[in-house]
Amino acid sequence: MERTLCIIKPDAVSKGLAGQILSKIISEGLKVVGLRMLHLSKAEAEGFYAVHRERPFFSDLVTFMTSGPIVVAALEGKDAISRYRRLMGATDPAKADEGTLRKLYAESIQNNAVHGSDGPDTAKIEVAYFFSTVDLVG
Ligand code: CMP
Repeated sequence: MERTLCIIKPDAVSKGLAGQILSKIISEGLKVVGLRMLHLSKAEAEGFYAVHRERPFFSDLVTFMTSGPIVVAALEGKDAISRYRRLMGATDPAKADEGTLRKLYAESIQNNAVHGSDGPDTAKIEVAYFFSTVDLVG
C-alpha cells in the first residue's frame, strides 16, 4: 500500500470541479484517506514548492497557488503514486493523454488543475505537509 498527495488547484476549485475530480480518482480505485479545503498563505505555498525555488516560474506559481482555495487529498492504494500520476497526465495539458485529469480540466502548464507527488520520498513529505497522522483514516 502506498500513499500520495493530491492537490486540486485554485483554477479547478474555482470552476467547481473538485467533486468531479475526486469522483474520477475514486473510480480509479484509489481511496481518499484524508481530505481538506484550505487557502494557502504565501509562506505555505513557497514551502510546499521549495524544490522549484530557483525556477523562473516560481513566483508566478506561488501567486497562482495562493489565488484561491485548494482541496488537498491523501490517497491510498497499491502503487497509488504511479496510478495517480497516470490519471493526472503530463504537466503540460497540451501533452497530456486523452481522458487524463489535466487533458480534461487544465488551462495551461501552470494552471494545470491538479498536483501529485512524484515519488515515495516526496509523497511522504507532501502528505505530512498537510495531514498529521491523526487526520488520516485507515
Ligand atoms: P505541479 O505538478 O504542481 O509541480 C510544479 C508546478 O509548477 C506544476 O505542476 C505547474 O503548476 C508549474 N509549472 C511547471 N512547469 C512550468 C512551466 N514551465 N511554466 C509555468 N509553470 C510551470
